[in-house]
Amino acid sequence: MNSDIKQMEQLVERLNYLAYRYYVLDDPIVSDKEYDELYDALRALEEKTGTVLNNSPTKRVGGEPLKSFESHTHINRLYSLDKCNSFEGLRTWFEKLKTSGVTPKCTLEYKLDGLTICLTYRDGQLVTGATRGNGEVGENVTEQVKTIKSVPLSIPFKGTVEVQGEGIMRISALNAYNATAAVPLKNPRNAVAGAIRNLDVRETAKRNLDVVFYNVNYIDGKSLSSQTEQIEFLKENRFKTGMCFVSDDIEQIIAQIQSVDRSKLDFAIDGMVVKVDDGNARGAIGYTDKFPKWAIAYKFEAEETTTVLRDVLWQVGRTGKLTPLAVLDPVELCGATVQRATLNNYGDILRKDVKIGSRVFIRRSNDVIPEILGVAERGKNDIDVEKPDVCPCCGQELTEEGAHLFCTNFYGCRAQIVARIVQFCSKDCMDIDGVSIKTAEQLYDILGVRSPAELYELTSEQLSLIDGFKDKKISNFINAVKASVNADLPHFISALCIENVGKVTARALSEHFGCIDALKAAGVEELTAIQDVGEVVAQSIVDYFAAHGELIQKYKKLGIDPIYAKKAGGKFDGIKFVLTGTLQEFTRGDAAKLIEQNGGIVQSSVSKLTDIVVAGENAGSKLDKARSLGKKIIDESQFKDMLNS
Ligand code: IVH
Repeated sequence: MNSDIKQMEQLVERLNYLAYRYYVLDDPIVSDKEYDELYDALRALEEKTGTVLNNSPTKRVGGEPLKSFESHTHINRLYSLDKCNSFEGLRTWFEKLKTSGVTPKCTLEYKLDGLTICLTYRDGQLVTGATRGNGEVGENVTEQVKTIKSVPLSIPFKGTVEVQGEGIMRISALNAYNATAAVPLKNPRNAVAGAIRNLDVRETAKRNLDVVFYNVNYIDGKSLSSQTEQIEFLKENRFKTGMCFVSDDIEQIIAQIQSVDRSKLDFAIDGMVVKVDDGNARGAIGYTDKFPKWAIAYKFEAEETTTVLRDVLWQVGRTGKLTPLAVLDPVELCGATVQRATLNNYGDILRKDVKIGSRVFIRRSNDVIPEILGVAERGKNDIDVEKPDVCPCCGQELTEEGAHLFCTNFYGCRAQIVARIVQFCSKDCMDIDGVSIKTAEQLYDILGVRSPAELYELTSEQLSLIDGFKDKKISNFINAVKASVNADLPHFISALCIENVGKVTARALSEHFGCIDALKAAGVEELTAIQDVGEVVAQSIVDYFAAHGELIQKYKKLGIDPIYAKKAGGKFDGIKFVLTGTLQEFTRGDAAKLIEQNGGIVQSSVSKLTDIVVAGENAGSKLDKARSLGKKIIDESQFKDMLNS
């Protein structure tokens, strides 16, 4: 029995260390399989002995639902943060510090947008997890917090300590959850609050939450006088911490804030927090009754707001897929007036239970069209969004595939054909300049073009009927059409508009098959053997060639039948690269071209097969993944050295 307990202690220690490497450091040292074997061994011993150690990872799964939350009194009061919305506000705050005679060395951290979580450890064991509540008394959410795998159940420090952090749901975890959830989560903040304040602990466990720590709120038997010391202490005790930039120059801090690109992060932030680093200086500056005067949050412009959904329009894309476009009451968001938003597909409308007349949450992450997240408030006379049964453009009966609706009138639907002409001519495809949607509509309406293949037969006389097509433009167009016959295989595959086949897949297919006939002959099995090609993509490819063999013949007759020869002998021969973050001297497209010209392969995501990750500024989750897989990571200047070597 004693030896069982000893073995359990060893297993718990090992498993907790492995979880720390995986969840906190993103740097695993064993495979999932090896972890699972140790975990199962521990479970077996727990069953045999009827004992579960306090810090056993088996306590993380979540047991029976709780009846209610108990209240928890924090050892020290949890303060909130003062805020400002402009750099001027930040400068004013900083200047004031200087007048109180303190050293203005400050730290800069992300202001994570989640839920405050405060953990108490005694004798090295996690004893309580609590929400902030009113700052003095919060709710005891220990069981919920234990499900979060990056939270240590035991720590090396043995005194009493209360640490504060932000519970978050990563955007990747939210998207993964929403992909199969009956009711999608509206945003990361609601998602984490709903999970932590959920009496059913099993639901909390399902959300794969994380906590990033930024404060030691109480500590017994140790003095941590500065923020940087606090962060160091947190790291030493295996807590996950966020970015922490230190400077005594407010302009440097502002420049650092300006360089943050929220859209590249895998978690939501609503601002940045500046804190005076030194503990003595903090003491001299003091507190108001709500917040410390030695810290301030610089808040970003809101990316989220609510407005009323007035109508839903259905747009038909180049593959025949229908996309619902929401018509909204105009609303200001991120400095622009928003009147349209996307609802990904009909299934998405049902899942989000969005109705015409409802007030809805909308979010605009970067410059893309905003997205509807869910319903904020029902309207009095809400009406269901009608599911179309015929194509809004050509009247063809629609087919349903999963959550999507399709118009299958490939050769007769104007919207599809126009979209395909535009795609065919685009730079990433056959590179025939000057074909906007308006031009493509006229090619369809005036010249009767029904397929991109017919572009090769147009005469100057015909083209002169199109708006803006004068002598020079006509001859440029005709030359570009002629030259496009020599487009390479990846560009040609992209130009075909195969459902689910983008630029990166087109390149992978070209690499593997070398010519269109080989691709056309491939079955699902051969296709899925290719990296990045799953069942759905493979099926789309097989379906496309089964339906449009004649079109391929037509392209061949026009002389379009590219052969993809791997460039052998290049310095990057066969090396698989992933590009992430912002590069200074190259666009990512140029960097990709240079890699390919040298025989390398550019992948869209980091996987076991990736060789090198080139990380520019503000690289986000791909960089994290590269680290966790132990991949070689180089910066832009190292990449340049490789190119020039
Ligand atoms: S420090 C004594 N640092 O923002 C100061 N708070 O609006 C205590 N938050 O309740 C807070 N990221 O939930 C601090 N890096 C960060 C933060 C942060 C997010 C939250 C926290 C706090 C709220 C105040």
